[in-house]
Amino acid sequence: MPVGIDDMAIYVPKLYIDSKDFAIARGIDPHKLEIGIGIYKMAMVDTNQDPACMAANACLKLMQKNDLKPLDIGRMYVATESALDESKAMNSFVIGMLEQIYGDGSFEHAGGIECKFACVSGSYALYDNANWIRAEENNDRAAIVIVSDIAKYDLGSAGEYTQGAGAIAMLVKENPRLVAFDPKVTSTIIKNEYDFYRPFGRETPLVNGSYSNYLYLIQVKKAFDSYREKAIKTKLIQLQEDESITDKIDYISVHLPYRKMGEKALAYLLRHEWRCLPRWKQIIEEVGMDEPTPKDPRGTIESILADKDFMKADDQFRKAFMRTSIFKQVFEQKMASSLEASAIIGNLYTASMYMGLRSLLEFEYKKNIDLENKRIGFGSYGSGSSAMVFSGVIQSTYKEIVKDMNLEKEIGERSKLDMQEYIRLHSNEGKMNEPISNSNNEFVLVKIGGNTADKAGLREYVFSN
Ligand code: COA
Repeated sequence: MPVGIDDMAIYVPKLYIDSKDFAIARGIDPHKLEIGIGIYKMAMVDTNQDPACMAANACLKLMQKNDLKPLDIGRMYVATESALDESKAMNSFVIGMLEQIYGDGSFEHAGGIECKFACVSGSYALYDNANWIRAEENNDRAAIVIVSDIAKYDLGSAGEYTQGAGAIAMLVKENPRLVAFDPKVTSTIIKNEYDFYRPFGRETPLVNGSYSNYLYLIQVKKAFDSYREKAIKTKLIQLQEDESITDKIDYISVHLPYRKMGEKALAYLLRHEWRCLPRWKQIIEEVGMDEPTPKDPRGTIESILADKDFMKADDQFRKAFMRTSIFKQVFEQKMASSLEASAIIGNLYTASMYMGLRSLLEFEYKKNIDLENKRIGFGSYGSGSSAMVFSGVIQSTYKEIVKDMNLEKEIGERSKLDMQEYIRLHSNEGKMNEPISNSNNEFVLVKIGGNTADKAGLREYVFSN
């Protein structure tokens, strides 16, 4: 019985910062942001928005679009790294909002939790819910997995130009119309790391940028090695001697803290997959230099990052590799469409890879490419750290959903923030009852905390129309 993603709905806040304005204000060359990072617009939440109301807005859209009633849903998971409470799960806030529409107690029969593991937890949530259905514990009901986050970094930090905000709700069921997950090949890797973390009480993370980039590449590669072993063992994919598993995967969708990271992850993976194949000789000729090796190839990530000669040579090799005709062709065919949304929305943490999937489906469809039976390989990464690699196949019914996808229209009209407004919002100086944008047919936050100490963290939302 195929199980997977039947439909998806997105919510992106209506405010954004333009990367040019941002670059000028911070004294950065705008090309660094547009080309080096791959960002044009970063979505920002208004004073009356939080990750829970973005999650509820995406979920309501998904339910209305599919005419779903609460009784059709058996589980609702929210994956986020922007938790609002140390104990109360974000999905309980979402249920509270949805019950304003569907009636008090209308979701009582359902279950679910909030999941946390930086940006990878949405993938674990999908996996667990797919297995809940495969195990036939679902009593004919579907699951909804919501990924919702606000990517917020310190003012003036290098992470500041990799911010963003948004949510995606995904309907998980049997015989899905969009993508059915390949069974028995999902592979994970986990290790205690401090590449990016947000200790209690902090609104912004502590991040070691270059370390987190490198760790992401290594962890996804390791999970991919384990995926390859499982895919061959289960005969999901069969390889000839001169073939790489990446030849058999039509699309590659990875975690996207920023657009350029997708390209870098693809380059890293292809180098790893191809260097033992006959094609490598021709690639090296086109690159024009040998692939460098670190002084201590078995060293730690720190020792490799500290090996300045190697890092410089490796950067040079990577850039030349990314200019080869074979890389450009594979990038265009397997990844480019998945990166479109990231450039105009920014980092969405848990939702980044799924916005990438959404983007891939819409923009490949617009190229008139037949997507039926095409396999997508997913490389999900969460700092801290864990990676999950899995795959799925686009179903024959995909057009029913994809034909109506229109990112610009679904995001809606947006307002550009000037730098002063942005800094006020970032510093939490705006008032909840004085939002910058108008809210139409959506949940908004109206109050935090009651009049007494025991009601301190209570959050009130209304549906504004
Ligand atoms: N024109 C075009 N490109 C330019 C440029 C210019 N004028 N100036 C710089 N660049 C390029 C650099 O060459 C580099 O390209 P490369 O990645 O292909 O080498 C790119 O812009 C980034 O510049 P760099 O100086 O290396 O990075 P940075 O110090 O600005 O930091 C991050 C970038 C991503 C590390 C930082 O934004 C960060 O810490 N983000 C948060 C953590 C994160 O997202 N981690 C990802 C893993 S989860």
